[in-house]
Amino acid sequence: MQSLLPLQSLLGFVSHQDAGLRLCQQFICHNPARLPSPTQWVNVKRCRVTDSYTQLWWMAISDEPKADNSKVLRPYSKKMQKLLSRGTYNAGKRPSGHKIGQSSFLKNNGGAISHNVLEMEPINPDAEVRIPGSAFSLSNTTSTDFFHAECKARGITPYPARIQPRLVDFFVQFLTDPGDLVLDPFAGSNVTGYVAERTGRQWVSIEAEEEYAKQSCIRFEDPELKKLISAPEDTESDS
Ligand SMILES: C[S@@+](CC[C@H](N)C(=O)[O-])C[C@H]1O[C@@H](n2cnc3c(N)ncnc32)[C@H](O)[C@@H]1O
Repeated sequence: MQSLLPLQSLLGFVSHQDAGLRLCQQFICHNPARLPSPTQWVNVKRCRVTDSYTQLWWMAISDEPKADNSKVLRPYSKKMQKLLSRGTYNAGKRPSGHKIGQSSFLKNNGGAISHNVLEMEPINPDAEVRIPGSAFSLSNTTSTDFFHAECKARGITPYPARIQPRLVDFFVQFLTDPGDLVLDPFAGSNVTGYVAERTGRQWVSIEAEEEYAKQSCIRFEDPELKKLISAPEDTESDS
Protein backbone atom coordinates (compact mmCIF):
# COMPACT_ATOMS: atom_id res chain seq x y z
CA MET A 1 0.00 0.00 0.00
CA GLN A 2 1.08 3.55 -0.57
CA SER A 3 2.16 5.45 2.53
CA LEU A 4 -0.25 8.19 3.56
CA LEU A 5 2.39 9.91 5.67
CA PRO A 6 3.09 12.74 3.19
CA LEU A 7 -0.63 13.54 2.86
CA GLN A 8 -1.14 13.28 6.60
CA SER A 9 1.80 15.64 7.10
CA LEU A 10 0.30 18.15 4.68
CA LEU A 11 -3.06 18.06 6.45
CA GLY A 12 -1.24 18.28 9.78
CA PHE A 13 0.58 21.44 8.68
CA VAL A 14 -2.41 23.28 7.26
CA SER A 15 -4.82 22.34 10.02
CA HIS A 16 -2.46 23.10 12.90
CA GLN A 17 -3.77 26.25 14.54
CA ASP A 18 -0.37 27.38 15.82
CA ALA A 19 1.29 26.95 12.41
CA GLY A 20 -1.23 29.19 10.61
CA LEU A 21 -0.11 27.82 7.26
CA ARG A 22 -2.06 27.82 3.99
CA LEU A 23 -1.36 25.63 1.02
CA CYS A 24 -0.55 28.02 -1.82
CA GLN A 25 0.06 25.46 -4.54
CA GLN A 26 1.08 21.87 -5.12
CA PHE A 27 3.92 21.10 -7.49
CA ILE A 28 4.78 17.81 -9.12
CA CYS A 29 8.47 17.21 -9.79
CA HIS A 30 8.42 14.63 -12.49
CA ASN A 31 11.54 12.54 -12.79
CA PRO A 32 11.18 9.73 -15.30
CA ALA A 33 14.76 8.62 -14.58
CA ARG A 34 13.80 7.46 -11.07
CA LEU A 35 14.51 3.82 -10.47
CA PRO A 36 11.53 1.52 -9.97
CA SER A 37 10.40 1.81 -6.36
CA PRO A 38 9.13 0.91 -3.81
CA THR A 39 11.03 -2.27 -4.73
CA GLN A 40 8.79 -4.71 -2.90
CA TRP A 41 5.69 -3.59 -4.77
CA VAL A 42 7.13 -2.65 -8.12
CA ASN A 43 10.01 -5.10 -8.74
CA VAL A 44 9.09 -8.09 -6.60
CA LYS A 45 5.30 -8.30 -6.48
CA ARG A 46 4.89 -6.33 -9.73
CA CYS A 47 1.57 -5.00 -8.53
CA ARG A 48 2.37 -1.28 -8.60
CA VAL A 49 4.00 0.96 -11.16
CA THR A 50 7.07 3.13 -10.60
CA ASP A 51 6.62 6.29 -8.57
CA SER A 52 8.10 8.82 -10.94
CA TYR A 53 7.34 12.08 -9.23
CA THR A 54 7.84 13.91 -5.97
CA GLN A 55 5.18 16.18 -4.56
CA LEU A 56 6.18 19.57 -3.37
CA TRP A 57 3.89 21.78 -1.32
CA TRP A 58 4.36 25.49 -1.19
CA MET A 59 2.88 26.82 2.04
CA ALA A 60 2.76 30.32 3.48
CA ILE A 61 1.39 32.17 6.46
CA SER A 62 -0.68 34.54 4.33
CA ASP A 63 -3.10 34.17 1.43
CA GLU A 64 -0.92 36.37 -0.75
CA PRO A 65 2.74 35.65 -0.02
CA LYS A 66 5.40 37.42 -2.06
CA ALA A 67 5.65 35.59 -5.38
CA ASP A 68 6.19 36.63 -8.98
CA ASN A 69 5.67 34.13 -11.78
CA SER A 70 7.27 36.51 -14.29
CA LYS A 71 10.65 35.64 -12.69
CA VAL A 72 10.35 31.98 -13.58
CA LEU A 73 9.16 32.10 -17.16
CA ARG A 74 9.63 29.08 -19.39
CA PRO A 75 11.47 29.82 -22.61
CA TYR A 76 8.96 29.99 -25.46
CA SER A 77 8.52 26.88 -27.56
CA LYS A 78 9.96 26.98 -31.10
CA LYS A 79 6.39 27.16 -32.39
CA MET A 80 5.63 30.19 -30.25
CA GLN A 81 8.89 31.86 -31.25
CA LYS A 82 7.94 31.44 -34.91
CA LEU A 83 4.48 32.81 -34.24
CA LEU A 84 5.93 35.87 -32.53
CA SER A 85 8.29 36.57 -35.37
CA ARG A 86 5.58 35.95 -38.00
CA GLY A 87 3.09 38.16 -36.14
CA THR A 88 -0.02 36.31 -37.38
CA TYR A 89 -2.02 33.22 -36.48
CA ASN A 90 -5.51 31.78 -36.83
CA ALA A 91 -7.69 33.67 -34.43
CA GLY A 92 -11.13 32.30 -33.57
CA LYS A 93 -12.85 29.69 -31.49
CA ARG A 94 -10.88 26.59 -30.47
CA PRO A 95 -12.40 23.13 -29.91
CA SER A 96 -11.85 23.74 -26.19
CA GLY A 97 -14.36 26.60 -26.41
CA HIS A 98 -11.71 29.30 -25.86
CA LYS A 99 -11.99 32.36 -28.08
CA ILE A 100 -8.59 33.44 -29.35
CA GLY A 101 -8.45 37.11 -30.34
CA GLN A 102 -6.48 38.62 -33.25
CA SER A 103 -3.60 39.68 -31.01
CA SER A 104 -3.96 37.42 -27.95
CA PHE A 105 -0.58 35.77 -28.40
CA LEU A 106 1.43 38.39 -30.23
CA LYS A 107 2.94 40.15 -27.25
CA ASN A 108 6.38 38.91 -26.35
CA ASN A 109 6.48 38.60 -22.56
CA GLY A 110 9.93 37.05 -22.58
CA GLY A 111 8.61 33.55 -22.00
CA ALA A 112 5.58 31.51 -21.04
CA ILE A 113 4.06 31.19 -17.59
CA SER A 114 5.48 28.15 -15.79
CA HIS A 115 3.52 25.03 -15.06
CA ASN A 116 3.36 23.32 -11.70
CA VAL A 117 4.71 20.10 -13.19
CA LEU A 118 8.46 20.55 -13.16
CA GLU A 119 10.46 18.25 -15.39
CA MET A 120 13.59 16.98 -13.66
CA GLU A 121 14.59 14.95 -16.72
CA PRO A 122 13.17 15.14 -20.22
CA ILE A 123 9.90 13.18 -20.22
CA ASN A 124 10.32 12.56 -23.91
CA PRO A 125 13.96 12.60 -25.07
CA ASP A 126 12.88 13.93 -28.48
CA ALA A 127 10.86 16.75 -27.02
CA GLU A 128 12.20 20.19 -26.35
CA VAL A 129 12.81 20.73 -22.59
CA ARG A 130 12.02 24.24 -21.45
CA ILE A 131 13.31 24.88 -17.96
CA PRO A 132 11.52 27.70 -16.17
CA GLY A 133 13.69 30.68 -15.20
CA SER A 134 16.66 28.58 -14.16
CA ALA A 135 20.34 29.35 -14.36
CA PHE A 136 21.04 25.61 -14.11
CA SER A 137 21.06 23.37 -17.13
CA LEU A 138 19.56 19.91 -17.10
CA SER A 139 23.01 18.35 -17.08
CA ASN A 140 24.25 20.40 -14.13
CA THR A 141 22.22 18.42 -11.67
CA THR A 142 23.79 15.27 -10.29
CA SER A 143 26.96 13.49 -11.15
CA THR A 144 28.43 16.27 -13.26
CA ASP A 145 28.34 19.06 -10.73
CA PHE A 146 31.39 20.51 -8.99
CA PHE A 147 30.41 19.24 -5.53
CA HIS A 148 30.03 15.66 -6.67
CA ALA A 149 33.24 15.67 -8.71
CA GLU A 150 35.25 17.32 -5.95
CA CYS A 151 33.99 14.88 -3.26
CA LYS A 152 35.05 12.01 -5.51
CA ALA A 153 38.47 13.58 -6.08
CA ARG A 154 39.00 13.92 -2.30
CA GLY A 155 37.87 10.37 -1.57
CA ILE A 156 34.71 11.56 0.22
CA THR A 157 31.42 9.79 -0.36
CA PRO A 158 29.15 12.58 -1.55
CA TYR A 159 25.99 13.19 0.42
CA PRO A 160 23.45 10.91 -1.26
CA ALA A 161 20.11 12.72 -0.91
CA ARG A 162 20.87 15.91 -2.80
CA ILE A 163 17.99 17.94 -4.12
CA GLN A 164 18.35 19.21 -7.68
CA PRO A 165 19.72 22.76 -7.70
CA ARG A 166 17.26 23.64 -10.48
CA LEU A 167 14.36 22.92 -8.19
CA VAL A 168 15.70 25.09 -5.39
CA ASP A 169 16.56 27.78 -7.93
CA PHE A 170 12.98 27.80 -9.22
CA PHE A 171 11.54 28.60 -5.80
CA VAL A 172 14.28 31.02 -4.82
CA GLN A 173 13.70 33.02 -8.03
CA PHE A 174 9.92 32.71 -7.81
CA LEU A 175 9.49 33.69 -4.15
CA THR A 176 12.40 35.92 -3.20
CA ASP A 177 14.40 38.93 -4.37
CA PRO A 178 18.14 39.45 -4.19
CA GLY A 179 19.10 40.33 -0.61
CA ASP A 180 16.21 38.33 0.91
CA LEU A 181 16.93 35.63 3.48
CA VAL A 182 16.47 31.95 2.55
CA LEU A 183 16.28 29.38 5.36
CA ASP A 184 16.76 25.63 4.98
CA PRO A 185 16.20 23.87 8.31
CA PHE A 186 17.15 20.42 6.92
CA ALA A 187 20.08 21.40 4.78
CA GLY A 188 21.93 18.15 4.09
CA SER A 189 24.69 19.11 1.67
CA ASN A 190 23.35 22.67 1.51
CA VAL A 191 22.20 22.92 -2.08
CA THR A 192 19.87 25.67 -0.84
CA GLY A 193 22.72 27.78 0.54
CA TYR A 194 24.68 27.30 -2.66
CA VAL A 195 21.76 28.40 -4.86
CA ALA A 196 21.02 31.33 -2.55
CA GLU A 197 24.64 32.44 -2.74
CA ARG A 198 24.61 32.19 -6.55
CA THR A 199 21.50 34.29 -6.80
CA GLY A 200 22.54 37.03 -4.38
CA ARG A 201 20.29 36.01 -1.49
CA GLN A 202 21.35 35.72 2.13
CA TRP A 203 20.95 32.26 3.61
CA VAL A 204 20.85 30.29 6.84
CA SER A 205 21.09 26.50 6.69
CA ILE A 206 20.73 24.07 9.58
CA GLU A 207 21.99 20.49 9.51
CA ALA A 208 22.02 18.02 12.41
CA GLU A 209 24.91 15.89 11.09
CA GLU A 210 28.24 17.64 11.46
CA GLU A 211 29.81 15.51 8.74
CA TYR A 212 27.27 16.71 6.16
CA ALA A 213 27.65 20.31 7.24
CA LYS A 214 31.45 20.09 6.88
CA GLN A 215 31.18 18.39 3.50
CA SER A 216 28.84 21.09 2.25
CA CYS A 217 31.64 23.69 2.52
CA ILE A 218 33.11 22.15 -0.65
CA ARG A 219 30.23 23.68 -2.63
CA PHE A 220 31.53 27.14 -1.92
CA GLU A 221 34.91 26.40 -3.48
CA ASP A 222 33.20 26.09 -6.87
CA PRO A 223 35.15 28.35 -9.27
CA GLU A 224 31.93 29.09 -11.16
CA LEU A 225 30.39 30.45 -7.96
CA LYS A 226 33.47 32.54 -7.21
CA LYS A 227 33.29 34.01 -10.73
CA LEU A 228 29.60 34.82 -10.30
CA ILE A 229 30.14 36.53 -6.97
CA SER A 230 33.01 38.67 -8.18
CA ALA A 231 31.09 39.63 -11.35
CA PRO A 232 27.41 39.00 -10.54
CA GLU A 233 25.34 37.86 -13.51
CA ASP A 234 21.76 38.98 -14.01
CA THR A 235 20.35 36.35 -11.70
CA GLU A 236 16.76 37.14 -12.54
CA SER A 237 15.21 35.49 -15.57
CA ASP A 238 15.25 37.51 -18.77
CA SER A 239 11.62 38.39 -18.43
C1 LIG B 1 16.52 14.95 2.76
S1 LIG B 1 17.87 15.60 3.56
C2 LIG B 1 18.07 17.19 2.81
C3 LIG B 1 18.92 17.18 1.58
C4 LIG B 1 19.29 18.53 1.07
N1 LIG B 1 18.13 19.21 0.55
C5 LIG B 1 20.36 18.43 -0.03
O1 LIG B 1 20.06 18.64 -1.21
O2 LIG B 1 21.52 18.13 0.28
C6 LIG B 1 17.37 16.00 5.18
C7 LIG B 1 18.49 16.38 6.11
O3 LIG B 1 17.92 16.87 7.32
C8 LIG B 1 18.77 16.53 8.38
N2 LIG B 1 17.97 16.59 9.62
C9 LIG B 1 17.05 15.72 10.08
N3 LIG B 1 16.52 16.14 11.23
C10 LIG B 1 17.09 17.33 11.52
C11 LIG B 1 16.92 18.28 12.55
N4 LIG B 1 16.06 18.08 13.55
N5 LIG B 1 17.65 19.41 12.52
C12 LIG B 1 18.53 19.64 11.50
N6 LIG B 1 18.73 18.77 10.48
C13 LIG B 1 18.02 17.64 10.49
C14 LIG B 1 19.28 15.15 8.03
O4 LIG B 1 20.52 14.87 8.67
C15 LIG B 1 19.40 15.24 6.52
O5 LIG B 1 20.73 15.55 6.14
